[in-house]
Amino acid sequence: MRSASATAPAAALAAPPEYLSGFGNHFATEALPGALPEGRNSPQRCPYGLYAEQLSGTAFTAPRHANRRSWLYRIRPAAVQGPFEPLAHPGLVGHFGACAPVPDPLRWSALPVPSEPTDFIDGLFSVGGSGSSDAHSGCAIHWYRANRSMHDRFFYDADGELLIVPERGGLHLVSELGRLDLQPQEIAVIPRGVRFRVELLEAQARGYLCENYGAPLKLPDLGPIGANGLANPRDFLTPVAWYEDRDGPMELVAKFGGALFRAELDHSPLDVIAWHGNHAPYKYDLRRFNTLGSVSYDHPDPSIFLVLHSVSDTPGVDALDFVIFPPRWLVMQDTFRPPWFHRNIASEFMGLVHGRYDAKASGFEPGGASLHNCMSGHGPDAETFERASRADTAVPQHITETMAFMFETRTLIRPTPQALALPQRQRDYARCWQGLAKRFDPTAREPR
Ligand SMILES: [Fe+2]
Repeated sequence: MRSASATAPAAALAAPPEYLSGFGNHFATEALPGALPEGRNSPQRCPYGLYAEQLSGTAFTAPRHANRRSWLYRIRPAAVQGPFEPLAHPGLVGHFGACAPVPDPLRWSALPVPSEPTDFIDGLFSVGGSGSSDAHSGCAIHWYRANRSMHDRFFYDADGELLIVPERGGLHLVSELGRLDLQPQEIAVIPRGVRFRVELLEAQARGYLCENYGAPLKLPDLGPIGANGLANPRDFLTPVAWYEDRDGPMELVAKFGGALFRAELDHSPLDVIAWHGNHAPYKYDLRRFNTLGSVSYDHPDPSIFLVLHSVSDTPGVDALDFVIFPPRWLVMQDTFRPPWFHRNIASEFMGLVHGRYDAKASGFEPGGASLHNCMSGHGPDAETFERASRADTAVPQHITETMAFMFETRTLIRPTPQALALPQRQRDYARCWQGLAKRFDPTAREPR
């Protein structure tokens, strides 16, 4: 589990990552035997001359079921670093209160990956957001685009945990707590404050990034569904301890208070030899989702597709939902099978990581996005309406080659001016519904 090379962090040189299975478990893992102190978190002297450091992701006094913290045993504590200075970033927006709200449905085609050298941090582009990172409430939604790996550059986000949804190209995430390989149709969550770098497994990488300012994402309760279903805990994978003992001039970038800062380091911060706790990165393969749905008529609300959620202080009302629309059978009879027209109190940002989405005939492409804010009417486009209205619902339909997702929030998502100005914004998006003709005929009671 130790570094394969003292100088080259390239993913290709390292052994494949190893993982621990389970969601939110109190894991204990060490890259050197006996590096975890026995019987206490902060012994007078740690094995191997390590420093003990606690990383808390929730208030000390949070209830046990919601409490997140890890103990890290590392070569140097995180405090060993130079002073921070502001780091300008042309594409990152950290405050959304001044962004104009837009009640119209919005949609974008995918952004190209830049041709100039761009790493994961450089290529961030903020689409919209809500709330305030200062108040630990709301979220920010970004695209990421990269064509080169981070090497001597590291990042942490004090504003929120990071939900990474790749659409193109694999990522090798190297964090303080271990390494994760990530491919499209998988997701990863990097907890608030965890330092990491992003290496590319292919020439280009592109995807979506949700910065969750609120309570850490967790698995939903299942209620009447029972003890099984949706995302199963054992399919969540957390890395085993891994470290590099690497010295040299390096850069630490922090997202803090809606802005970026940089500090100089003379060593890699990925020097945690052992750790235990439940504030740790994890990944999940969306294709493992146990999709549930109606087997009689109608279709359930999309909350049935909930993978992870961030709860608010109002029971039953989430601050952030991460929902997917995976391959599935549709068997409902005498039912309009795509999602019906709807207006919701929630605000919905959707993306597509694979294939096509069954409620839109065209225009919603992998890497693209749509935003339907609170009470904005939307639903199937005219072409999909016609097709689904005449489909033979005595025959099951197998939806394959698709993986759409939604970041759904209780608050308005304000798009950024830069997102509204993009040439990839489909300014004629709302036209997809304007072909829905008046079908009303007071003399024709029977559906036609
Ligand atoms: Fe919707």
